Amino acid sequence: MSERTVRVRVPATSANLGPGFDAFGIACTLYNETTLTLTRAPGVEITARGEGASHIPADERNIVWKSVRYLLERAGCNDEFRGAKIHMNNRIPLSRGLGSSATAIVAGLKAANAILDNRFNRHELLQFATDIEGHPDNVAPAIYGGFTVNTVTNGVVDCFSFLPRIFMRFVVMVPNFYLSTKSARQVLPVEIPMKDAIFNISHAGMMVAALARGAEKFLDHAFEDALHQNYRAELIPGMFDVFAAAKRAGAYGAALSGAGPCLIAFVPERRRCTDAVADAMRAAFRDHGVQARPLFLRLDTKGAHIVNDKSAN
Ligand code: HSE
Repeated sequence: MSERTVRVRVPATSANLGPGFDAFGIACTLYNETTLTLTRAPGVEITARGEGASHIPADERNIVWKSVRYLLERAGCNDEFRGAKIHMNNRIPLSRGLGSSATAIVAGLKAANAILDNRFNRHELLQFATDIEGHPDNVAPAIYGGFTVNTVTNGVVDCFSFLPRIFMRFVVMVPNFYLSTKSARQVLPVEIPMKDAIFNISHAGMMVAALARGAEKFLDHAFEDALHQNYRAELIPGMFDVFAAAKRAGAYGAALSGAGPCLIAFVPERRRCTDAVADAMRAAFRDHGVQARPLFLRLDTKGAHIVNDKSAN
């Protein structure tokens, strides 16, 4: 075997869901596809098309390639495969809070692992991805699919993935500006009042309990947060008005998607009001001078997976 090629499909993610800062995430039905060929000969050839293609580095700085190398190193296979061809077909908007960098990390790890006949299990991939990304809340749903709750204890990540018993659709408003996670974390305080910690623990717990048991009436305030959104509001004009508009139009609630700037509304499947929610959110954004476009998404239940696996030679 001199070359092997695999193609991996990785879902977009939305982290936090309001009170679950750095702890909750969902996988969504919007996907990036990455094709990886590992070669014995050194040198990397990277091509990208789709969302943000012109901003994606085609050299050693490329996140997919860094993640491939990370996995090869862990497996002790650096000498066996010294080069690669990578093709990225991206549909997930870049730097908007939909986990595009997490998908690149997961794509690199998952594809390289498949080529090594799945030497590492999903939990090990999650640990690697978290070590690379810095926090697990986007990489966890990208790997597992569904609704994920993660913990980090002394650097060790754990993740519980489940399918909520309340069926929801997601309306994601994508504003026409970028926001890096780094700048959105810089506005956060180092310390928070005890009452805000209590607010988030109770709301986050309520959300998971309501979703796991199918108790819809407890979702009414479950997406509210006191840890990060108030501080980040200054970076996203009209954020709370957009949340309120989504709720008036029939959503259970709305939240900043990851570190933003996308905003996500959680809409009851049975109410069939996603168009109304999107119109209301777009109008509220427009009142603050922000143009935004909607994405209509559902829960991805599968997580990252290989869509073909062909050996060359
Ligand atoms: N939870 C992170 C944040 C974003 O809100 O800064 C995604 O990892």
